[in-house]
Amino acid sequence: MEEEYIKAAKAIKQADYLVAFTGAGISAECGIPTFRGKDGLWTKFKPEEIATYQAFIRNPEFVWQWYIMRMEKLKDTKPSEAHKILAEWEKKGILKTVITQNVDELHQKAGSKNVIELHGNIWRIKCIYCDNKKRLKKLPKSMPRCDKCGNIMRPDVVWFGEALDPLILQLAFDEGLKSDVMIVIGTSGVVYPAGHIPVRAKTMGAFIIEINPEESAITPVADVYLAEKASVAMKKLKNLLSSL
Ligand code: APR
Repeated sequence: MEEEYIKAAKAIKQADYLVAFTGAGISAECGIPTFRGKDGLWTKFKPEEIATYQAFIRNPEFVWQWYIMRMEKLKDTKPSEAHKILAEWEKKGILKTVITQNVDELHQKAGSKNVIELHGNIWRIKCIYCDNKKRLKKLPKSMPRCDKCGNIMRPDVVWFGEALDPLILQLAFDEGLKSDVMIVIGTSGVVYPAGHIPVRAKTMGAFIIEINPEESAITPVADVYLAEKASVAMKKLKNLLSSL
């Protein structure tokens, strides 16, 4: 395994355009449950009952309770070492962009500036009928109402069956295509179109480094697979980089 770390560190060191692609696993060490792991959210709740527009329209209060519960947990959550190292690498010019499937804003909390949020952001809300969109300053006590048109507001996240914002998706694909090295951290890689991004980058010649304690749908295309938790692997890579 050591030589795999050296291979990965050398690729990062020599990268012209390093991009990170992250999923729920990078926030797991912060105490935020993943979706599909053994204790994942989708093992406790049915996504179709919560994370779909239909579920929301049928029972907005119930869906809002679920999101308020997640926000309650998130509000005091600190970023992991892995989030922080990615932010450090961006500051040093080693890393160009973070493309994340996560809505928890922990990359930004860690100091990352160039973050593409494919699936939205749990701290933003938008009206279901007008263009009113805003960022929550504190936890909503109940379902927020639009102060423009009076209709209900929803979390500004992408639900199953919904299209991603086409511009955000294009930006993410473009960053993937520009990358000569992509570090993929903590994703099962089973959700599309997000899961296409590392695969597309690979077909365009990018060197793929995957960090995940379990194999994923990305592992078959990884040039280096580090079977490790995000923060452990990122600390090892950070130390190796300083000695190269
Ligand atoms: N470090 C790195 N990876 C980890 C860690 C850890 N400490 N703990 C778990 N993982 C890995 C798991 O092995 C799994 O492969 O993180 C991955 C999490 O996979 P998912 O739960 O499927 O999360 P993700 O890939 O982000 O899901 C994509 O699905 O439900 C939708 O919109 C939701 O953005 C989400 C999308």
